[in-house]
Amino acid sequence: MCGIVAYIGSQQALPILINGLQRLEYRGYDSAGVAVLEEGPRLRVAKRKGRVADLLEAIGEDVIAGTIGIGHTRWATHGPPNDVNAHPHVSGVRDLALIHNGIIENYHALKQSLLQRGHQFESDTDTEVLAHLIEEVRKTTGKPLFDAVRIALNEVQGAYAIVVLDESNPNQLIAARKSSPLVIGVGSEGDYYVASDATPIIEYTANVVYLEDEEIALIERDNGLHIRTIHNNEVTPEIIELEMQLEAIEKGGYEHFMLKEIFEQPRSIADSIRGRLNVKQGTIHMAGIDDHWDQWQQAGRLVIVACGTSWHAGLVAEYLFEEFARIPVEVEYASEFRYRNPIIRPDDVVIAISQSGETADTLAAIQLAKQQGAHVFGVCNVVGSSISRETHAGAYTHAGPEIGVASTKAFTAQVAVLTLMALHIGQKKGTVPPKRYYRLVNELATIPKKVESVLEQEPLLRQIAEDFHESTNALYLGRGVNFPVALEGALKLKEISYIHAEGYPAAEMKHGPIALIDAEMPVVFLATTDEIYEKAVSNVQEVKARGGRLIAVVTEGNRDLAQLAEYVISVPPCDEALAPLLSTIPLQLLSYHIAVLRGCNVDQPRNLAKSVTVE
Ligand code: G6P
Repeated sequence: MCGIVAYIGSQQALPILINGLQRLEYRGYDSAGVAVLEEGPRLRVAKRKGRVADLLEAIGEDVIAGTIGIGHTRWATHGPPNDVNAHPHVSGVRDLALIHNGIIENYHALKQSLLQRGHQFESDTDTEVLAHLIEEVRKTTGKPLFDAVRIALNEVQGAYAIVVLDESNPNQLIAARKSSPLVIGVGSEGDYYVASDATPIIEYTANVVYLEDEEIALIERDNGLHIRTIHNNEVTPEIIELEMQLEAIEKGGYEHFMLKEIFEQPRSIADSIRGRLNVKQGTIHMAGIDDHWDQWQQAGRLVIVACGTSWHAGLVAEYLFEEFARIPVEVEYASEFRYRNPIIRPDDVVIAISQSGETADTLAAIQLAKQQGAHVFGVCNVVGSSISRETHAGAYTHAGPEIGVASTKAFTAQVAVLTLMALHIGQKKGTVPPKRYYRLVNELATIPKKVESVLEQEPLLRQIAEDFHESTNALYLGRGVNFPVALEGALKLKEISYIHAEGYPAAEMKHGPIALIDAEMPVVFLATTDEIYEKAVSNVQEVKARGGRLIAVVTEGNRDLAQLAEYVISVPPCDEALAPLLSTIPLQLLSYHIAVLRGCNVDQPRNLAKSVTVE
């Protein structure tokens, strides 16, 4: 979703802003813009609907010189994507520019009152209202800009991360956040960077300060960084060192980030279990659970809240927690949970799963669960993210930055961490048979190698993609833990190739989707060997009998399905509980190659955002 980058220092701002906007492209956006203060001081604004490349074309040969500036990628909420609605927005007298992520919920009331006071608006956005509100507060109170922004923010309801630039304060940037992340990079030469996530910053500095909710920062050229709350209390900035490496956010020779991230999975899965799983001793160490063991031991129910791909990881976890920890599990879309007046009991443990750690609905679900007394555990990828800070305890997935909008390595890392959790709790509670526990502990450690061997089948998946890339529909079927994998496979195809796809529990097929099957319909069947394998084979027969074109994912050595399926992809044998970590991989590769053959923008699919910070 929307991205923010800003700079103040001794270097030219524009190249830093453009580079930063390019780094933020992965978040998903539909327009981009910059504002720079030139000598004078004179505020220069350039913005365009479309990609950062379109903005660059609009700027053309024009020289925009200045050492302080702000940049933004917009994902439309209020008003369609066009040049006028793109950020930065300026105040009525056009001396102040503002960029904003989030949604100002009371913008309509604020706008009406500003209209009555003679303000005129150019755009449909809530952001422009905030620029005018700051101007109005400054005019009526006579306060310096910092106080005017602070007072204006006290009138705002909703979520914001903002950066303000002003002609009459040419040595200042003002940044503030509430429910939308903002990070400040502290350079070595008195220069500062502000961004909605660390990706535009890490090539300049590893030292950052994360703003907390309702904090406002004043960054001055010769006076450094000062932070207050919007209620005017002083805050001491806490500088932390980021561990993220630049290579992690570059393509490293791959054509797309998504392909790179698919191929990173042997390493990312290994990273997610490293330090937690001790195969020799047969132990799992998870401090986030052990430090709060009372809550887990007494848990009457686990409630998993998540969105998108993370919700699918939650569905896999439902099988694992019930099987190993013998605790009833409910998996909820965070967006439904938060508005349903859910029953939350003090002995519930709520698990929030999120790659970005910023998804607005998941964050709101956590806040609701906390208010009602539940213990909340986060499974997040992004270190320091809002969800990781909002939860009582948690486990990072350590998949590394995921840039492709369609989630791949983050999903398998989530599943790996959730598997560890289920086993750990099961072992502590004595609900998992020791023999199975030790087998799984050993097998988990072998998964990265097995993923490597699945990845070797890429040429076959490319060939299948060539055969099916013109299809208009696809069906994904699986049973047990492979059912959520089927959902995830269908989602991956929809997201990046725009082919309509549905995932179903295989046995449920005969209650509806079977009507769709004809000689044109690709049916991806997950039939790895497990206790219900025979039943899955019967479902395969049902598809075959209706002429469907079968692509089967099976366990190595399987001969039955070779007779029935047009294509067979084999994955190495493993305990059935670990099957998702392997059977997901070919589905990712299939979607990837289909999307490439269809000429789609794989890393930034239309309308989608990487981090959905609005509800
Ligand atoms: C967006 C992304 C998905 C992601 C979902 C949940 O829709 O495009 O890939 O699964 O948000 O995001 P989260 O960061 O909470 O896992």
